[in-house]
Amino acid sequence: MSGRFDKARHLAGRFFGHLRAEPPGPEDQSFVHEHLTAPCAEMFWSQSFPDQRHAVDVARRVSMTLPEDPGAVEAALVHDIGKREAGIGPVSRSIATILDAACLPMPTRMRTYRDHGRRGSVEIEEAGCGELAVLFARYHPGPAPEGIDPERWKVLLDADG
Ligand SMILES: [Fe+2]
Repeated sequence: MSGRFDKARHLAGRFFGHLRAEPPGPEDQSFVHEHLTAPCAEMFWSQSFPDQRHAVDVARRVSMTLPEDPGAVEAALVHDIGKREAGIGPVSRSIATILDAACLPMPTRMRTYRDHGRRGSVEIEEAGCGELAVLFARYHPGPAPEGIDPERWKVLLDADG
């Protein structure tokens, strides 16, 4: 039961965060370019402002905990890249999450949103980002896949929560 409550709270936080979001400023822009190669940065900047803001916030938290792990920061910056393809706003995203939790059918754009991890991971791999970035996009918010340090994975999940 508390799992459901946590999910609803996470959803509400994300929803209001989305409405408040401003584009990353000059310091955050430098931070992004320090951690991403040109093709990955191009993908990053093609996201909506709220998604850019969210990714920078997650990546800043990761870099505080893992200052010597640029691969983890890169993974945080690109993990939600797949959401931009769906092209839907916070209300539809929330509805998609609820429909998915209830195992109900949903329109194509919402399905694209729901599948953002798998879709994004393909683009991330094609852009030449690191292995952790590909895997984290694909498998979050699930458990660490084999071969990945679970502690490192947990830092990413906690920063995204
Ligand atoms: Fe995220």
